[in-house]
Amino acid sequence: MRTYLVTGGAGFIGSNYIHYMFKKYDNEIRIINVDVLTYAGNLENLKDIENRDNYTFIRADICDKEAISRIFEENDIDRVVHFAAESHVDRSIKDPEVFVRTNVMGTAVMLNCARAAWELPDGSYKEGKKFLHVSTDEVYGSLPDDENAFFYETSPYDPHSPYSASKASSDMLVKAYMDTYRFPANITNCSNNYGPYQFPEKFIPLMINNALQGKQLPVYGDGKNVRDWLYVEDHAKAIDMVQEQGRLFETYNIGGHNEKQNIEILNIILDTLQEMLPENDPRRKNVSRKLITYVSDRKGHDRRYAIAPDKIKKEIGWYPETMFKEGIKKTIQWYFENEQWMKNATSGDYQKYYDSMYKNR
Ligand code: NAD
Ligand code: TYD
Repeated sequence: MRTYLVTGGAGFIGSNYIHYMFKKYDNEIRIINVDVLTYAGNLENLKDIENRDNYTFIRADICDKEAISRIFEENDIDRVVHFAAESHVDRSIKDPEVFVRTNVMGTAVMLNCARAAWELPDGSYKEGKKFLHVSTDEVYGSLPDDENAFFYETSPYDPHSPYSASKASSDMLVKAYMDTYRFPANITNCSNNYGPYQFPEKFIPLMINNALQGKQLPVYGDGKNVRDWLYVEDHAKAIDMVQEQGRLFETYNIGGHNEKQNIEILNIILDTLQEMLPENDPRRKNVSRKLITYVSDRKGHDRRYAIAPDKIKKEIGWYPETMFKEGIKKTIQWYFENEQWMKNATSGDYQKYYDSMYKNR
């Protein structure tokens, strides 16, 4: 039975990935989820699978060398899927250091411990061991407003935010391990994800939550920044396909071919909410375009991201399956059905975060 070590599995993409993997492989695999549970880590995301015999949760910091090497010593890990990171650009602008610690140092610890566990005395590796580093298209910087310009695996790195700089550094470490030690790894650089369990600091869940409550919808700058949105389950599938069918040492870009301006996304969300809320639902009267409020722009705001997922399609046969129209409905439906999840996510420190980020903006 293959054993996976998933880092950051209590976060948005990690928890969707764990759900996807159990749906696909059921009892054929074992998953160990290592997460320190920052504000973004939420075990509620995994409550339906937490009692499985083939699932284990370990609360640990990926920067803690001893804890991570112990996990490798006590378990014969076959696959690492490394999601754990600080992931929000706005937070990275306010407090860059924790991004360097977790994203760079944490990745270094993961690489070191995996190498120590997997490398043989002759410098080769135990059969079948693989590490997948989950990264972002933001490492490539910003594209102009030209619909023919895309990010490719060969695009030069040009990160602008402390978040993307820390992810770029972590990618470089993985590349260095592959080049120096022939460490068996892949890197995936994915575009913006949306779907269930996304923390409401990110654009889509923040807008859904605010609109349902009749709160202002803060659009940065002119609202015309473009992101390439991918349904999270399609990302989970791509990660698994890259790990099983991809060529080792390669980078694969994963994208939705679904570029939209932020304001377009927001209008789709508002229309879809109106369409899906029952006639007698009191939240219906809250949802209105009048809530849209243009606020001061994010510092260093990247204009446009767009991935041409040609390589992954050609080599592995992956393509984005979920159309945005369908994915956004599934996402909104999930937030309708999980009001308590949203209430819990926005209790505690969330209001403090929200005030510090949006007051006087
Ligand atoms: P998230 O913020 O929702 O989750 C991150 C998880 O990592 C949380 O559960 C958190 O508790 C955990 N974590 C943070 N620091 C840790 C530490 N020191 N030790 C152990 N666990 C720690 O993030 P996400 O949106 O699910 O993103 C997951 C990964 O995918 C990240 O590496 C991110 O850079 C990458 N990515 C995200 C997107 C996106 O649109 N969200 C797109 C492309 C790539
Ligand atoms: P976000 O979800 O933070 O993802 P990223 O910055 O990693 O792409 O933001 C998506 C886009 O939405 C980005 O252009 C910034 C913009 N945005 C707003 O206009 N208002 C908001 O309140 C937030 C959180 C983001």
